[in-house]
Amino acid sequence: METISAILGQTSFSHSNLEQLLQCTGEDKSNLLKKGGAVKDLFVGNKVYFRGLIEFSNVCDKDCFYCGIRKSNHIVKRYNLTDSEILDAARFADDNRFGSVVLQSGENSSPAFTDRITNLLTKIKELSNGRLGITLSVGEQTELVYRKWFEAGAHRYLLRIETTNQSLYKRIHPCDLLHDFNRRLDCLYYLRAIGYQIGTGVMIGLPFQTISDLADDLLFFQQFGIDMVGMGPYIEHSETPLYEFRHLLLPIQERFDLSLKMIAVLRILMKDINIAAATALQAIDPLGREKGIKVGANIIMPNITPGLYRNDYSLYENKPCVDEEPAQCKGCLDARIAMADGEIGYGEWGDSIHFLKKGNKEAI
Ligand code: 5AD
Ligand code: FES
Repeated sequence: METISAILGQTSFSHSNLEQLLQCTGEDKSNLLKKGGAVKDLFVGNKVYFRGLIEFSNVCDKDCFYCGIRKSNHIVKRYNLTDSEILDAARFADDNRFGSVVLQSGENSSPAFTDRITNLLTKIKELSNGRLGITLSVGEQTELVYRKWFEAGAHRYLLRIETTNQSLYKRIHPCDLLHDFNRRLDCLYYLRAIGYQIGTGVMIGLPFQTISDLADDLLFFQQFGIDMVGMGPYIEHSETPLYEFRHLLLPIQERFDLSLKMIAVLRILMKDINIAAATALQAIDPLGREKGIKVGANIIMPNITPGLYRNDYSLYENKPCVDEEPAQCKGCLDARIAMADGEIGYGEWGDSIHFLKKGNKEAI
């Protein structure tokens, strides 16, 4: 078996190299994490870009076994922000020179929903004079709908594949057409063909998930040539079916450590992509996102959903910052990023260099 330092010196990585990196401990682990940070500085610089996250509705048609806002959770209070609340949040992002916003919600594919998004995209472009970049994260839709939204101004799309192990995928989702692995994959292909920068990701530390699965996930990102990745630890939620398997989980701190290793390994594997420091990291460790930045991530998604609703967008328990108002978050983040030796790319879109290199148009 090769040593970790020999693997870290390589330019390409086999499945077993990746497994070894994900399992390393002690000094090897600190070298891996350091290398993730160094590769980031070298290839994408030390700037951290903000995507102001607007979780505009937790109404969801899907029933994923891990998710706290799944349709069958009748305990969660459902909400749907008004258009003017959403536009106010976007204005807040623009006024504070966040380069971009992310519109995220539970899944819905009714014409009323998809038309509403088209209209919001146009309005956000108008109110910011085209300054705000817009990422959508509203699940599986038809190719036509994705195209309409692209034409209305969305240019990035986040759709996590959740896991690339198809039998694991089946264990953590109901078995029906609404939760079909291949359909999800098709969506990523449509999005790419239309011209979106595409982001995907997985949950780390799911019950039944192995290190080999995670190595496969990393190779999938590479083979697909993904532009952005957001991945974070799985955190059990008591009102979900997967909670029953909590005895199979790694201790939460180990899931956190594994997530940091996944970020560092991914950065080494895909040097010029955008990697988000997931909010779920902060649910485990108050400095989780900053630690993610240190080892290779370069994107943070500060939550700018009006404070009133944040508690109800509980995908997992112990979600951080649910009591703050957006303005408080901003001051807090400035300090946090400086602590992680980063600099905030205010007023910039911070597009994926990987995407731009593929011959796509330079953005501001
Ligand atoms: N723990 C961690 N992440 C979760 N997500 C949903 N439920 C959980 C959970 N219990 C993630 C999924 C989804 C994203 C919006 O939130 O990966 O794609
Ligand atoms: Fe599928 Fe929330 S119901 S991620």
